[in-house]
Amino acid sequence: TRTPVNVTVTGAAGQIGYALLFRIASGHLLGPDVPVKLRLLEITPALKAAEGTAMELDDCAFPLLKGIDISDDPNVAFDGANVGLLVGARPRTAGMERGDLLEANGGIFGPQGKAINDHAADDIRVLVVGNPANTNALIAQSSAPDVPADRFTAMTRLDHNRAISQLSKKTGVPVSEIRRLTIWGNHSATQYPDIFHAEVAGKNAAETVNDEKWLAEEFIPTVAKRGAAIIAARGASSAASAANAAIDHVFTWTNGTAEGDWTSAGVVSDGSYGVPEGLISSFPVTAKDGRFEIVQGLDVNEFSRARIDASVAELEEEREAVRGLGLI
Ligand code: NAI
Repeated sequence: TRTPVNVTVTGAAGQIGYALLFRIASGHLLGPDVPVKLRLLEITPALKAAEGTAMELDDCAFPLLKGIDISDDPNVAFDGANVGLLVGARPRTAGMERGDLLEANGGIFGPQGKAINDHAADDIRVLVVGNPANTNALIAQSSAPDVPADRFTAMTRLDHNRAISQLSKKTGVPVSEIRRLTIWGNHSATQYPDIFHAEVAGKNAAETVNDEKWLAEEFIPTVAKRGAAIIAARGASSAASAANAAIDHVFTWTNGTAEGDWTSAGVVSDGSYGVPEGLISSFPVTAKDGRFEIVQGLDVNEFSRARIDASVAELEEEREAVRGLGLI
């Protein structure tokens, strides 16, 4: 029998946590043969709610679920962790400046990064979902100097999946026949969903669509502002789709991308495509043997260049701001 994989989920009592934990426990995160132990990290006032979720997890009698621990101490929750899903974050509240937001999140992701550094298993893989996800991932990564930097990633898979769905609606081609779509840059309104290298039913997506006005005025803003549209419609932010994207991200990371295809993830830049080294920015990535690799050698046209540069400039500003606050 296999040793269970320890999966630590922060913000476990939140709405994404509620949509995520049951799918992890039923085998969707790592595969149908992999037993898991869940470690739930919450702030003290939310421990009771986390216990309620744990009771429901028990009540599912999931064959793969080998245990649930709950803690408000990152040093305990990340002890022996193989996978860390960093979902809990400090949301922006009315009147909060960006500096305050980054500082509040630094107070969360700094200590969690350090706890990962000191206590996680050697093969730890981290996905940051909590916003601002790219910069929170950067803070956690810089607080974990003993962990290889490429083990820290930020989630843009929800944006990727949203873009595939929009492209499918526009072209009438099923999502399963859309490949090689890319989200570049920051998981924010400046992100750039790129269809110039994408394929729909084996043909180039941009040529098939052949409508730059739709691209600039509909597709890109619809994908980039989808989160706000969900809030407006649902009265609450995306939760099940965000949890689904987190599952997809980790499943792809550990099980690989299909031959000839790629996905999108926020990974540490090696300077590819002019993205400054060390920034955690979204790229087209393949996954193999448990590692993401940035797809190399793509032509970037003028339309794309301007949009990638704008999103990367925002990431640089965020990095400067957290540097100025002494968070990295
Ligand atoms: P939520 O507010 O329902 O839950 C957040 C949970 O985190 C709460 O239970 C809270 O007690 C907990 N928490 C706060 N500080 C913590 C800490 N220091 N340690 C452990 N737990 C802590 O929020 P929801 O809807 O679950 O969203 C979570 C985050 O995910 C938000 O930052 C949201 O903006 C982000 N998000 C990111 C997406 C992406 O594509 N990257 C998509 C959707 C949401």
